[in-house]
Formats: sequence, structure tokens, C-alpha cells
Amino acid sequence: MIKLQDVCKSYFLGDTEVKAVCDINLEIKDKEFIGILGSSGSGKSTLMYLIGLLEHPTAGKIFLEGKDVSKLSDDTLSKIRNKTVGFVFQSFNLINKYTVLENVLLPTKYAKGILDFDAIKRAEELLKKFGIWDRRDFFPNKISGGQQQRVAIARALMMKPKIIMADEPTGNLDSKTGDEILDIMESLNKDFGVTVILVTHEKDVANRTKRKIYIKDGQMVGKYL
Ligand SMILES: Nc1ncnc2c1ncn2[C@@H]1O[C@H](COP(=O)(O)OP(=O)(O)O)[C@@H](O)[C@H]1O
Ligand SMILES: [Mg+2]
Repeated sequence: MIKLQDVCKSYFLGDTEVKAVCDINLEIKDKEFIGILGSSGSGKSTLMYLIGLLEHPTAGKIFLEGKDVSKLSDDTLSKIRNKTVGFVFQSFNLINKYTVLENVLLPTKYAKGILDFDAIKRAEELLKKFGIWDRRDFFPNKISGGQQQRVAIARALMMKPKIIMADEPTGNLDSKTGDEILDIMESLNKDFGVTVILVTHEKDVANRTKRKIYIKDGQMVGKYL
């Protein structure tokens, strides 16, 4: 479904080139459950942003369903991304001035006119599924971290994406709450056929996934070093 071919991504700090990831050759198939594992600074988030079409590669090509998307404009890419990928982050990234329900509805605001489902109904379904419908009128800073992450997952699922990408989704949670979030990720993959890509530096977290990709100093390596 997504293929990276000889992909590199560099950041430039003045004249200095920081090669965040390089020489990435990777194919991700429909309905996979993948862990991207590596130590801090190894390039995991950059790789996730490339796979999730949030960043353009500085070299190489990215194919989505066989189509080269690496040179599309930001505008075109963001439209494709909004329908295809849902993101979940360590710090939840909810908008504090909006209620839980408003946060979950947000992705549909960028897709006016092309929605083929009732946004409010879907938001209700998702919030009920994750046991937080009774928190719909709360602001994010008035609910627990575990509840905030459930809201973020509901928001990520709102547009019915084929792929969910989660960057250290349990990093700010205690281990019991973290396990519950991982249970949700597992169920999205197993019961709903969503492709899940989970970025983590923790082996225990990565062990929940079916296939693991190890990254060290921006390169894919055979095993965790
Ligand atoms: N926006 C950026 N500007 C400059 N350097 C960056 C940027 N993002 C990441 N990097 C650098 O790229 C490398 C990989 O970072 P990152 O992908 O965030 O790693 P990880 O998620 O594994 O901690 C690091 O050296 C980091 O400092
Ligand atoms: Mg990171």
C-alpha cells in the first residue's frame, strides 16, 4: 500500500545538514501492524512523518497505492492525507479551547462537501466505543491522560482512514493506562483491519506489534542494537 524507495530526509540547520533518515527501502502492506523501534534521536518520528505523508523526502520516492506521491504539492498531499492517515501523538495534541466533541469533529471541518457519512453520528459512535461519550462537553485539560488519548484516537479515526500512525502513544501514560491504549491499537488492527504503525523506543510496547522495523542513526538495521 505504501512503498518507500531509497528515501532520505535531511534537515538543514544553517549550512549543516542533519541526515535524519537515509536509504530507507520499505513496503507496508494493507492491514499490517508494524512497530518502528529505535533509541531517542534515531529517526523514528521522521520516518513516521515520511510514511504518513507529513514530510517530503529530500531524496527517493514514496508510492501510495502504486502512485508516486513524493512530489505532489502540500495542498494535494494534505487532502490525500486527511482521508488516508490518522495520527496519534505522545502529548495527545488536542486543542484545549475546543471540547472533546469539537476536537473529534475537527478533521471533518477540512473535508466539507466530500463527507459521505454523518459526522456527528460517527463522532458519537467513536466516543461511545471508547467509553468517553459522557465527557463530550469537557475541555481536554479537564479529563485524564488516558481519556485524552482516547479522544485523540477517536479524532484520528474520524475520517475512516486505512492507516493509523501513533508516535510514542503511551509515553505520557502510566503502564496500566498505556496497556489499555495498546489494546485499542491492537483491536483497530485485528477487528477493524486498520493498518497500524506504532513508533516506540520501548521493547515491551513494540512486542505488541506483528512486524518490527529497527532504526539506528537514521538507517534501517537488522535488529535492535
Ligand atoms: N525539524 C528538525 N530540524 C532539525 N533536525 C531535526 C528535525 N527533526 C528531527 N531532527 C533531527 O533528526 C534526527 C532524528 O530525529 P527524530 O526523527 O525526531 O528521532 P526519534 O523520533 O527517533 O527521536 C535527530 O538528530 C533530530 O535532532
Ligand atoms: Mg520521536
